[in-house]
Amino acid sequence: MNWLTRFLKSSIGRKLLMALTGLFLCSFLVVHLIGNFQLFNNDGGLSFNTYAVFMTTNPLIKFTSYGLYATFVFHAIWGLYLVFENKKARPVAYAQVDGKANSTWASRNMGLLGTIILVFLILHMAGFWARYKFGEVPYTMYQKNLNDNDLSYFSFDGSIVNKMEQYTENGIEVTIVKDLYHVVADAFQQWWVVLIYVLAMLALSFHLIHGFSSAFQTLGLNHKKYNQLIKNIGIGVFGIIIPLLFATMPIFFLFFNH
Ligand code: HEM
Repeated sequence: MNWLTRFLKSSIGRKLLMALTGLFLCSFLVVHLIGNFQLFNNDGGLSFNTYAVFMTTNPLIKFTSYGLYATFVFHAIWGLYLVFENKKARPVAYAQVDGKANSTWASRNMGLLGTIILVFLILHMAGFWARYKFGEVPYTMYQKNLNDNDLSYFSFDGSIVNKMEQYTENGIEVTIVKDLYHVVADAFQQWWVVLIYVLAMLALSFHLIHGFSSAFQTLGLNHKKYNQLIKNIGIGVFGIIIPLLFATMPIFFLFFNH
């Protein structure tokens, strides 16, 4: 175990763990964003709700989810620990050195940005994930005519054994499912919830603008030829496009979908 303690105490070992966990979380963001696009399908939430059932019942995805939660917790705790360790080592560092001269605002405030994202994540998971798993979520019955694809839906007051029941009767595909879509749509009717989401996406943007390319540097994957490309992906894709697309979801429900 001596090598492990030494590795965790070394500056590169500490940063390596942040880089690897951070990049894994970036890959989750891409998957989560693509899945959430189904909120925009004009089908009363049918595709989003069936997708939510798949994501919470498929054994492989369930297993990966536990790794994801552990990674989030580790990345947050380890990151905060490193911020405090750095402060302890150099308590007056930026009083003596002009930090702005050779570093960006985001790079100097990764701890603060990460903490904002952590608070967001706790609220986010309490509102959607925990409610879906442990709380009261209404059921909706969808009826899709397989001949002309006509879709109708209404709230279902009965109870079913699982999160979803599906059968076909006289050319009508019936789906009774836990309606997470309406939990999301209702939450985003409140302007202050939307504001919290938009501000959190701003923090995510700055966190990733620095974090993505910094992770590649820590991993030693910095080659003259690819440095600019990695920086562009870090800023353009993870810093701007992904947080912006996430932010469009609460905004869409507040203004365009009642
Ligand atoms: C702003 C738009 C977003 C919407 C509409 C949204 C929606 C949702 C919903 C409905 C769930 C519960 C579904 C389920 O348990 O399968 C969920 C879970 C989750 N969300 Fe989000 N999300 C958004 C942004 C984010 C962001 C930016 C992060 C990370 C920084 C995030 C992290 C998570 C995590 C970790 C879970 C639990 C995932 C799991 O159990 O596999 N979400 N989200």
